[in-house]
Amino acid sequence: MSPSAPTLQTMGQQFSRRSWAEPWKIKMVEPLHMISPAARAQALQEAGYNTFLLKSEAVYIDLLTDSGTSAMSDRQWAGMMLGDEAYAGSRNFYHLEAAVQNYYGYNYLVPAHQGRGAEHLLSQVAIQRGQYVPGNMYFTTTRLHQELAGGIFADVIVDEAHDPQSLHPFKGNIDLDKLAALIAREGAANIAYVSLAGTVNMAGGQPVSMANVKALRALTDRHGIKVYLDATRMVENAFFIQERESGYADKSIAAILKEFCSYTDGAWMSAKKDNLVNIGGWLAVNDTALYEELRNLVVVYEGLHTYGGLAGRDMEAIAIGIEECVQDDHVRARIGQVRYLGDLLTTWQIPIVQPIGGHAIFLDARRFYPHLAQIQFPAQTLAAELYLDSGIRAMERGIASAGRDPKTGDHHYPKLELTRLTIPRRVYTQAHMDVVAESVHAVYEAREQTRGLKMTHEPKYLRFFQARFARE
Ligand code: F0G
Repeated sequence: MSPSAPTLQTMGQQFSRRSWAEPWKIKMVEPLHMISPAARAQALQEAGYNTFLLKSEAVYIDLLTDSGTSAMSDRQWAGMMLGDEAYAGSRNFYHLEAAVQNYYGYNYLVPAHQGRGAEHLLSQVAIQRGQYVPGNMYFTTTRLHQELAGGIFADVIVDEAHDPQSLHPFKGNIDLDKLAALIAREGAANIAYVSLAGTVNMAGGQPVSMANVKALRALTDRHGIKVYLDATRMVENAFFIQERESGYADKSIAAILKEFCSYTDGAWMSAKKDNLVNIGGWLAVNDTALYEELRNLVVVYEGLHTYGGLAGRDMEAIAIGIEECVQDDHVRARIGQVRYLGDLLTTWQIPIVQPIGGHAIFLDARRFYPHLAQIQFPAQTLAAELYLDSGIRAMERGIASAGRDPKTGDHHYPKLELTRLTIPRRVYTQAHMDVVAESVHAVYEAREQTRGLKMTHEPKYLRFFQARFARE
């Protein structure tokens, strides 16, 4: 709205307010229930204060993740009925292959049961023991697969990404000086590849600019280093480029996505996010020899190279989801809803990561609970308090998620100690966002009385999923 446009208060004379709305209407609904405060307290205690261990029936609004939680469209459900469940050469595989080639632009496709299945294959094939894998911040499963393959993760994201208050428009960018210094120190032969994520999950859903990926391509080309893209939320990244980078305002999301991918050598995908399905993933590369290795290894761990752990109907739903997710009005409404929630919290001066990212609002637990030390798990505590207040389920993205340094055995102490309110795609309404914001506000009001947590059970891998906590 332009500054001079009449507002709601001046209605009556002339009314020029214009809102966006979701480009869909609801055809089927699923009831939601909120259980009593006493039942929530009991459920949380039984879950060891870990929202991953709650039964979903005890949850009211589920903002644990945007992964596999999307509502599929009528076209996708119709596609499910066209599943060709042949063991080999299912027609749905060829649809999926064509969709990936068409929209992401890579030559070869290997399906996988979900993102981490694809990460596993790529890590095993493209990393040699002792090689570095520089990336724009870590992601939990990505880094673990790189480490299990013998790689050493090196964070080369710009410093602004670690500062929840920095308003840098592309906080997901790679710091090319950090990368160049790593190459100079270790030698190009000791770099497996650059692991580049489009919108950086752990930084708050922050994007990478087109200029940055172009410059990255130039730098890596000089040293013969490959760049593989985590395309999980790349469509959302394309939206931020369209909005913020000069020269892209008139380009479609689809065109921006394809251009961005063209600067990389391949991608892995958790189709459970951008691609609007409940399960699935894929890996796509340009190099024929690499593809040969991947399609051989997929048979060992996931399934034949024309299904990779997926049913034919799942591949059909992904192929249709790819077409739907690159529509400009879809992405605008999706990120618009995330912003609606974030803007409310910002107005109420509740500390969140800024700028608001693509898939979630990240509450800044350090500023929320300044009286708690990081080892008292402030972000885990905040997720627990939200659940107690209203049955809303959030996720910790701080010290528990960061795990331990494989060499020293100490906790990683990430700068960001965040609680993620992740918005599933096409699932909740604006009214749900109001309820969520009001609950966060209530928990914020009570912040000074809140006590922290201690960890009472710590699994070896990806501990945040199954760890248990108790009140201090
Ligand atoms: N890469 C990114 C950036 C992710 O966010 C995820 C999953 C994966 C890879 C792994 O994919 O779950 O299909 O095996 N993120 C989920 C989340 C779990 O809640 O953020 P997956």
